Amino acid sequence: MNAFDAFFQDAPAAVDVPAVRRDWQALNGAYNVNQWLLPLPPWAKRPYEHAGGEAWRLLQTDLAQNDSESPMCIYLHAPFCSSKCGFCDCYSFKLGARQREHIQQYVDRLCYELCLWSALGSLKRRPIASVHLGGGTPTFLGAAALEQLADCCKAHFNITPTTEWALESNSTALTPEVIDAMHRIGYRRLHLGVQTLQDPVRSTIGRRRSAADMLQKIETTLALGWVVSVDLICGLPGQTLAGFIAGLQALLAAGIDGVSLYELLIYPQNYKWARRHGLTERGHESNFWMFVAGAHLLEAHGLRKNLFNHWAGARDANVYFTFPQRGEDLLAVGTIADGVFGDYHYRHPRYTPYMETALFGAPGLQGGLRRNPLEERVKPLATPVLSGRLSAEIARAIEAQSGLVTRWQAFGLLRADAAGGFWLTPSGSWFAGNMVAEVTAALAEPQPA
Ligand SMILES: C[S@@+](CC[C@H](N)C(=O)[O-])C[C@H]1O[C@@H](n2cnc3c(N)ncnc32)[C@H](O)[C@@H]1O
Ligand code: SF4
Repeated sequence: MNAFDAFFQDAPAAVDVPAVRRDWQALNGAYNVNQWLLPLPPWAKRPYEHAGGEAWRLLQTDLAQNDSESPMCIYLHAPFCSSKCGFCDCYSFKLGARQREHIQQYVDRLCYELCLWSALGSLKRRPIASVHLGGGTPTFLGAAALEQLADCCKAHFNITPTTEWALESNSTALTPEVIDAMHRIGYRRLHLGVQTLQDPVRSTIGRRRSAADMLQKIETTLALGWVVSVDLICGLPGQTLAGFIAGLQALLAAGIDGVSLYELLIYPQNYKWARRHGLTERGHESNFWMFVAGAHLLEAHGLRKNLFNHWAGARDANVYFTFPQRGEDLLAVGTIADGVFGDYHYRHPRYTPYMETALFGAPGLQGGLRRNPLEERVKPLATPVLSGRLSAEIARAIEAQSGLVTRWQAFGLLRADAAGGFWLTPSGSWFAGNMVAEVTAALAEPQPA
């Protein structure tokens, strides 16, 4: 029996095995699931053009001359967690002694930074589409700190009745007090790090709360009217196809609004953990099959992509993550946070340098760079790919400039829709970064005279 048949041998009835098989066969060796690429921002692909101080001076000049009144998003990063999970590749850590003091100092620093930015150009007036608090585990900051941050945003920016307040959490940090405080402040969107609902796998990855506790938190927050989106990972140690599918079904039955699917990424920071669990020597095929099976199930339930790896129901506009599709700027504040104003991308450093430099009139940036002419040409074509859907017009533009739409259809990465546009298939979701790299390579070639 081949590996595909063995993997799907006892597949639950909800898995559309023929559809996954079609996707797998359509790749036909042209796309290798072991060589998928993450879509990367410019600062991850080439060195900064300006060190932090210079980047800040340039942004001050750019924004002083910019009287835009268009909406923008705010991202706030909180790097703390109650403990560091072995599998996690996020920038996050456990604080040592004097936790409350460190949290207070950090939140004061974020507020200081917000205040600095709000003084630039029209930033104070521009409507805020979303305030997104990411991590780490922002709910670990506690109710008082969350309140202080929200008050600071409200005092310094144009928070409107339609601003979406969103934050990330896991079930442990989502205590009844935190839920109450978040609701009072105005938070109405939760990104819940579920990872898996298989209890034995949850213990292996260090989750202290059970699947039942997670489902109960989902029920509580949905009952408050929040939009609840969950993060799930394919490829965790001991995870099974049946367990993954049963988890998805339980989440859909609970009424969640959206799902982000990730493959477990192995980086230097979680390599030792991954090796201990025997994950470093295996290929990515089984993770791909699980991912594609899950994606088909989500689509059969009527969820549609609004980001290449996010499937959303009708209430889930996923406002912060979809800011590029709306052409909005992003003001990002805090450790490793990266933002973009127009064609300028900037990023913050890690905790120690951030705490040393985000002071005395500076937001403590690490560096910044402008999109180059090639990145500028790629952006209008790459953004729709990363959103999971190409309109007919964008598909025509990509085809005319690269012929890639025909190729992507041939290998099962795109599916035509009734409006003349295309959706990324589950395989397309897996290979979205490769698709952007292909567009970039095609546009980099010298154009015929
Ligand atoms: C910033 S983390 C916040 C997670 C939250 N603190 C929690 O504990 O659930 C956002 C998401 O990144 C994903 N993630 C973390 N480590 C990952 C890894 N090594 N590979 C793939 N996704 C990962 C998880 O799904 C996680 O929910
Ligand atoms: S998974 Fe969440 S709680 Fe665990 S270390 Fe990563 S960010 Fe922190």
